[in-house]
Amino acid sequence: MGKDLAEAIYTPPNNTFKFAEVPLTGVKVNRGMTHDGLGKYLSQVITKAPGSTSNITGILKETKTDVVISYLPVGSEAATKWYVEQILDAGCGMVNCIPVFIARENYWQQRFAERGLPVIGDDIKSQVGATITHRVLTRLFREQGVKLERTYQLNFGGNTDFYNMLERERPGVEEDLQDQRRHLAARLQAGPGQHSRGAERLRSVAYGPQVVLHSHGRNHLWQCTAEP
Ligand SMILES: NC(=O)c1ccc[n+]([C@@H]2O[C@H](COP(=O)([O-])OP(=O)(O)OC[C@H]3O[C@@H](n4cnc5c(N)ncnc54)[C@H](O)[C@@H]3O)[C@@H](O)[C@H]2O)c1
Repeated sequence: MGKDLAEAIYTPPNNTFKFAEVPLTGVKVNRGMTHDGLGKYLSQVITKAPGSTSNITGILKETKTDVVISYLPVGSEAATKWYVEQILDAGCGMVNCIPVFIARENYWQQRFAERGLPVIGDDIKSQVGATITHRVLTRLFREQGVKLERTYQLNFGGNTDFYNMLERERPGVEEDLQDQRRHLAARLQAGPGQHSRGAERLRSVAYGPQVVLHSHGRNHLWQCTAEP
């Protein structure tokens, strides 16, 4: 808290690949409203910063912010709703990049529409991450006339997002998995397995039950660089 954004992004536990030098931005990191932003596992490795919550609506107005992009931790339902209220009060648009359902819900759509504000979401997918790779591979089998019998996707990662995804009871974690399952439309397992992301294994039947094809795929990527 209080650091320039350029410094704050490299503060542990942030541990991603540094692919750019970020000059001082003049943007100070302010204290938000934690709510459920700090998960059960993550709270064992980091300490919540002291201090009272900044006036978020005030800051958004003062800085003439047009659009707020939310990358709150997965499952931050209460925190997301709290920020949406601040965003609406400040008259900003919103891009919700996390799997807490705002943009797809009539209630929230209406609240934004009444104010003539845009809202886009929910959830973001890595450009060439495990989920899209898995989806494309399963489509390939269908397009080639091969019956896909079983498939699963294991995600391993070593960042704070994976600490939160270990907590299956966090809102959105299970929904995110179900969303992946719906798109894959096969008997499968998908989603975060371990705190350590990206392995696919597909089992299919090409010409008959005795001709089984196993297919493995592995993605290894720096998560932060995978998003558009
Ligand atoms: N990385 C990906 O490929 C990917 C793909 C799809 C969805 N997402 C979603 O994007 C979100 C962010 O992912 P990440 O990898 O950047 O996670 P992260 O844990 O690195 O970042 C979350 C940030 O939110 C901050 N935070 C926590 N509670 C807060 C609060 N109440 N107010 C303000 N800030 C708060 C944390 O300090 C941290 O900086 C997650 O919900 C994740 O599921 C990420």
